[in-house]
Amino acid sequence: MMARSAEIVGVGSCLPEKRLTNADLEKMVNTSDEWILTRTGISERRIVAQGEATSDLAVRACESAISDAGIEPGDIDLLVVATSTPDMLLPSTACLVQAHLGLTCPAFDMNAACTGFIYGLHTASSAIEAGRADVVLLVGADTLTRVVDFKDRRTCVLFGDGAGAAVLRASENPGVRSIVLGADGKGNSMLKIPAGGSAMPASPETVQTRLHFIQMNGNEVFKFAVRAIPRATRAALAASEIDVSELAWLVPHQANQRILDTIADRLHVPHERVFSNLATTGNTSAASIPLAIDDLYTSGRLAPGNLLALVGFGAGVTWGAAIVEWTKATPGKEA
Ligand code: ACO
Repeated sequence: MMARSAEIVGVGSCLPEKRLTNADLEKMVNTSDEWILTRTGISERRIVAQGEATSDLAVRACESAISDAGIEPGDIDLLVVATSTPDMLLPSTACLVQAHLGLTCPAFDMNAACTGFIYGLHTASSAIEAGRADVVLLVGADTLTRVVDFKDRRTCVLFGDGAGAAVLRASENPGVRSIVLGADGKGNSMLKIPAGGSAMPASPETVQTRLHFIQMNGNEVFKFAVRAIPRATRAALAASEIDVSELAWLVPHQANQRILDTIADRLHVPHERVFSNLATTGNTSAASIPLAIDDLYTSGRLAPGNLLALVGFGAGVTWGAAIVEWTKATPGKEA
C-alpha cells in the first residue's frame, strides 16, 4: 500500500485594499524611506480598514483556496487558523471563520507567531497522514498593524496585514515530504505584547504605558533567525533526502530582505530562487508563507514536481521548515 501523504490542492490569499507607504510613515514617526528600504527592503504594506479584522481576511483567503481546490465546504474535515492577532480572545478566530464559511468541521486557532503556517502544516499533514482527516483547510492570517505602536519607529515600519490559505488533501503523491519544528521559550522576551492576557489584564495603566503593543529586540530576532533557519532547512532537507540544489524555491517568512539574503548565502541558494515580496507586503506574520505560495502559483512560477522549502521563524521563539513537492498544474497549463 502506498504511504498516505498530504498534498496541497488549493491555495488562496487576501491582502487588504489600503496601502501604507514609507512616505506615509515618514509623516508619523522620525524615519525615512531610505532607512526603511536599506534596512528592511520594505516599500509599502497593506493595512486593514476600520471595522476589518483578521477573520475577514482569513475568510476571503479560504474562499479562494476552496474554489481553487474545486471542493465543497462540506468536504472539509478540519479548519486550522494560524494567527497571533485573533479577532478577540474568545471565541477562537477559527470558529468565526468556520461560521462565515458555513463549515461544520472542528476548528481551532494555533499561535506560533510568524511560524504559524509551518506549525499548522505540521498539524494538518499529521492529521491526514494518520487518517484522522481527508481534507484540511489551513489559513495563516494576521493583522499585526492592530498591535503595532505607530509611535515606535523600530517596529511600526515592519509589519503589514494579510491572509493566505491552503487546502490539503490525502493523496498517494508525495506532497508534504518533511517538516522540522522548533521552539525555545527562553527567547520569549525577544518579541512580545506584554498586556491584555492573564498575566497583565487590561487596565488604564497598561493602556497609558502602551503595553498592548508589540515590543521587539530587533537585533536579537535578526541573529536568531539567521542561525535557526539555515539549520532547520538543512534538517528538513536531510529528512526528505533532498539536496539544496534540487530546490525550485526557498520560500522564507518575509521579515527583512537582509535576513533573506543572509539565509540564502548560508544555504548556498542563488538569490533568484529565494522568493521575496516583502517590498510590497511587509511582514505579514503567519500569512507571509501562504501569501508567497499563492503569489508563486498564480504568477505561473510553480510546476508539478517543483520542490519547495518553506521556512519560518517568529516570536516564542519558534521556527520551522517544510519540504513540499508541488503537484498542482501551472495555471493555464492544465491538462
Ligand atoms: N527609522 C530610522 N531610524 C531607525 C528606525 C526607523 N524606522 N528604527 C530604528 N532606527 C534607528 C535606531 O534607533 C538606531 O539608532 P541609534 O543607533 O541612534 O540608537 C539605529 O536606527 C540602528 O538600529 P538597529 O536596531 O541596530 O537597526 P538594524 O539594522 O538592526 O535594523 C531591524 C532594525 C530592521 C528591526 C532589524 O533588526 C530586523 O529586521 N530585525 C528582525 C525583526 C523581525 O524579523 N521581526 C519579526 C519576527 S517574526 C514575528 O514573530 C512577528
